[in-house]
Amino acid sequence: MTVATSRMRFASTLCAALRTVLSSSQTSVRLMTWNVRLDALPDNITLAESIAALPDPVAQPAEFYAVNGEQPWSARRMRIYERILTEEVDIFGLQEAMVRQVNDMSELLGAGWGHVGVGREDGIEEGEFMPIYWKKDTFTLLRSDHFWLSHDPFVPGTKFPGASSVRVATAAHFKLNSWLSNKRFTLVNTHLDDQSDPARAFAASMLLHRASSEAANSSTVFIMGDFNSQAQGHDASAYQIMVGLRAPEKINATFEQAFPAGNKKASEAEFKMIDVRTQLPPMRVAGCWATFTGFDAKDTSEYSHIDFIFGGSNGGWNVTSHRVENVLTDDGVFASDHRPVIADILL
Ligand SMILES: *[C@@H]1O[C@H](CO)[C@@H](O)[C@H](O)[C@H]1NC(C)=O
Ligand SMILES: *[C@@H]1O[C@H](CO)[C@@H](O)[C@H](O)[C@H]1NC(C)=O
Ligand SMILES: *[C@@H]1O[C@H](CO)[C@@H](O)[C@H](O)[C@H]1NC(C)=O
Ligand SMILES: *[C@@H]1O[C@H](CO)[C@@H](O)[C@H](O)[C@H]1NC(C)=O
Repeated sequence: MTVATSRMRFASTLCAALRTVLSSSQTSVRLMTWNVRLDALPDNITLAESIAALPDPVAQPAEFYAVNGEQPWSARRMRIYERILTEEVDIFGLQEAMVRQVNDMSELLGAGWGHVGVGREDGIEEGEFMPIYWKKDTFTLLRSDHFWLSHDPFVPGTKFPGASSVRVATAAHFKLNSWLSNKRFTLVNTHLDDQSDPARAFAASMLLHRASSEAANSSTVFIMGDFNSQAQGHDASAYQIMVGLRAPEKINATFEQAFPAGNKKASEAEFKMIDVRTQLPPMRVAGCWATFTGFDAKDTSEYSHIDFIFGGSNGGWNVTSHRVENVLTDDGVFASDHRPVIADILL
């Protein structure tokens, strides 16, 4: 064997080894969904004032559980930010964020984070946003869009008949910024109606259809948010449609055509979303069960699990942990009436 052929053989072995490493490489990302409760008790307290009012971390509080119930955004926002930071979340969706709240989060997170989202009333900044935030050094946003969970999905501010509010979904396509992987995925963040189960069933049918279209386009897909729907029992239609236990409703034809589901019938029948919790052994599903507390530490009659992270049944992901964090602190402040849902996902 000449030196040249031996070098060539060595090079081709090295390439094969590298390909094996590359194809088996996975990136772990921490994903979170959190309904932060709208700015329902607005005040004029600035972000700088909230930062200046943070307590001395060494001193004992003057009183434990000094307050009860809902507190203004100005008293809650630093708790939310601190949680996102200390939990080392990479990418997250919020629900119910008014423009003041979206701006506060952007300011706190700083230039290393990007976000997309629009106000649901006008498609600009009126009403609640369902924003998605991501670490710019980990992900690149490829494109994003919004659709309304109504019969006129591309007309901002449209509402499903009987729904209590206008409902919107934010969809974003990302690419991982890793030299090991240029994996792409789609993330949809939403908030379904709190009053109408038919509105939720319709919305879930649209979301499932959109996800099946992403899957038909070979994209790994996640849908997360506040579904106002439990997994079982009453008000479970939306969840059961998402996970394929109930047939979806008929949706707007323009929407169906805008997001074709590939080899239609076959893929639609088989495709469903998977509640990522259900892929884990119980010891990896940590923290609280309820995701909604209604700002109440004593009366648990409203406690429910209605916030979810779903992954597409077309795969491209694995989950390694799931948790629901308690957000009541010693001063009695609940950061929100919902708890954050956090999952570690391998892409
Ligand atoms: C905020 O400030 C404006 C202007 O000073 C005032 O008109 C408004 O009443 C204030 N709102 C609250 C909730 O304090
Ligand atoms: C479907 O949605 C499109 C786009 O928003 C709208 O123009 C059309 O009227 C809707 N169709 C029906 C039957 O509501
Ligand atoms: C499918 O993926 C391609 C490549 O990323 C993109 O250009 C196209 O818009 C996608 N189609 C849909 C319906 O999202
Ligand atoms: C998920 O796990 C399966 C089974 O262990 C593995 O074959 C696959 O490569 C994994 N996918 C990702 C994206 O981690």
